[in-house]
Amino acid sequence: MPIIGSQRHLFDIPDDVTYLNAAYFTPQLRTRRAAGIAALDASDAPWTIGADEFFAPVEHLRGLFAELIGGDADGVAIVPSVSYGLGIAAANIEVGSGRTVVVLQDQFPSGIYAWRSALRRGGGEIRTVGLPDAAPWTKAVLDAIDDTTAVVCVPNCHWTDGSIGDLVTIGDAARDVGAALVVDASQSLGAVPFDVASIQPDFVVGAGYKWLLGPYSVNYLWVAPVRRDGSPLEETWVSRAGSDDFSRLVDYRDEYAPGARRFDFGERASFQLLPMAIASLEQLLGWGVNDIAEAIDPLTAAIEEQATGRGLQAVPRHARGPHLIGLRAEGVLPAGLAGTLAKEGVFVAVRGDSIRVSPYLYNDVSDVDRLFSVLDGVL
Ligand SMILES: Cc1ncc(COP(=O)(O)O)c(C=O)c1O
Repeated sequence: MPIIGSQRHLFDIPDDVTYLNAAYFTPQLRTRRAAGIAALDASDAPWTIGADEFFAPVEHLRGLFAELIGGDADGVAIVPSVSYGLGIAAANIEVGSGRTVVVLQDQFPSGIYAWRSALRRGGGEIRTVGLPDAAPWTKAVLDAIDDTTAVVCVPNCHWTDGSIGDLVTIGDAARDVGAALVVDASQSLGAVPFDVASIQPDFVVGAGYKWLLGPYSVNYLWVAPVRRDGSPLEETWVSRAGSDDFSRLVDYRDEYAPGARRFDFGERASFQLLPMAIASLEQLLGWGVNDIAEAIDPLTAAIEEQATGRGLQAVPRHARGPHLIGLRAEGVLPAGLAGTLAKEGVFVAVRGDSIRVSPYLYNDVSDVDRLFSVLDGVL
């Protein structure tokens, strides 16, 4: 019996909505909304916003995210998008002609475009690893790593079907050939344990608005100590040493604030959004990621069972995360399938050739039953 029972009461989800699309956006926690409204109210009175507001909330948020991934707060930067975080990684790792960047087939585009642009400028090429059927992709990635590898840039859970790789093993193999490991962990941070100490990535980026329950546009980057002297994408005044003394901002300083703060985006203090992000991560840490994963796992297991019973293919549990499952049909999926289900109050995504189902703590098995009773009428 999972430790966490249904948490639907903490979200404002109408009774007739079966929302199984956390991998897209998670609905807003009531506490997050309250924090956002209070922050919006506070912005009526800019005379109450002191210099400290530019620093204290963002430092608090860094600490919460660091706790979530077992990293240090100094290594956390707040970024406006995953693309931005991966852009920082691509701008700070040299690839060069004859060398390769290993990625997965059908990987989310944020990283791909960053590498394509870097490789156009500096040389090198992308090596794309095919996804095996019904197995983790660890071995396929290991087979693609060789002396030419400069970077391995992979997720920890594939965004279309939930398939996984073992990042500890992949990280070891990358280090053996002197390659960097860059992880887009957007589709699992918050729902699956992630530990920077054992994975030892160079850069980890995570979307804040999916499994981290936060608002759109507050996203996270963790940077390994050896990479913290890299170049940011923008030269912000607020990330400079001593920038908390507003009376001396024109004593221009080339020195950055310590750690990964130089990589923060310009208006990272986002006065309305940060309190919401803080409320979200506090709730997550209160539940604990292990317990969240344990609570969602039976739901994806029930989805897998019902799907395979109907002849759909699902990535089996040993090859996927506990929270996200892709279902494939024999033939092509009916056009507009997600829209058809949405009209019945059931929300999933179609990504690639998979029906992507991603439940969360507000779901229970009645949502799974409802999904399949609607799917039965459509497939
Ligand atoms: C794996 C993955 N990475 C990144 C993103 C979002 O990227 P960005 O913040 O660049 O829009 C998504 C959104 O669905 C995603 O699934």
